[in-house]
Amino acid sequence: MERQLVVTIDGPAGAGKSSVAKLLARRLGYRLLDTGAIYRAVAFTARERGIPWTDGEACAQIARDLDIHFDFVDETNHVFLGNIDRSADIRTPEVSQGASQVSAHPPVRAALLDLQRRLGAGGGVVVEGRDTGTVVFPDAGMKFFLTATETERARRRVDELTRAGKSVDFDQTLAEIRERDTRDASRDVAPMVPAADAVMVDSSTQTLEEVVESLAQQVVGQSKR
Ligand code: DC
Repeated sequence: MERQLVVTIDGPAGAGKSSVAKLLARRLGYRLLDTGAIYRAVAFTARERGIPWTDGEACAQIARDLDIHFDFVDETNHVFLGNIDRSADIRTPEVSQGASQVSAHPPVRAALLDLQRRLGAGGGVVVEGRDTGTVVFPDAGMKFFLTATETERARRRVDELTRAGKSVDFDQTLAEIRERDTRDASRDVAPMVPAADAVMVDSSTQTLEEVVESLAQQVVGQSKR
């Protein structure tokens, strides 16, 4: 008898969390919860309403009222705000920095905690983010912390944005990744740190398929215990 686990994948920008989480969820027949997309949605909505990302209370109100849902369209996880597909709008480098800024406000994190727990309730879900194994699902059945070298992560981000038709500079992307890592790892509330019981995975030298295969085997093993 296999249990339906909550599987958390945390780690820095560009480590491959989204790709790994998506393939792992599909492989296991689990749902997928992209928590970064939720912070991105708050930053995007603030920008649309002319609210500065430094205004923690106003951003927290946006977080409390957030009408977000996810849906798979053509094998990709799309993000809807109301009924408008905002998947591309929330993935710009500008919104990446905004998401990192709004996520440092304690009231924003508090407002999104319940939402994330509700979306992950019942298990059978792969959750990806920064604090999903430490704060959101501290009792998750299986936790991973995915990393890769800075240059490898910047290279992947450039590839991803180039594929999306955007022209981006490698050095600037690397600088943005460093800025985000520093902010995400040094904030007072729920900083990006591996959970004590997380399995550390370095994706720099493995293919995506190898990483997914290794994680899937560990989850299946754990779900039979
Ligand atoms: O994973 P991502 O790049 O989509 O996340 C965007 C930002 O959101 C990231 O820089 C920090 C924040 N975030 C967070 O603070 N906690 C999470 N669980 C997920 C993302």
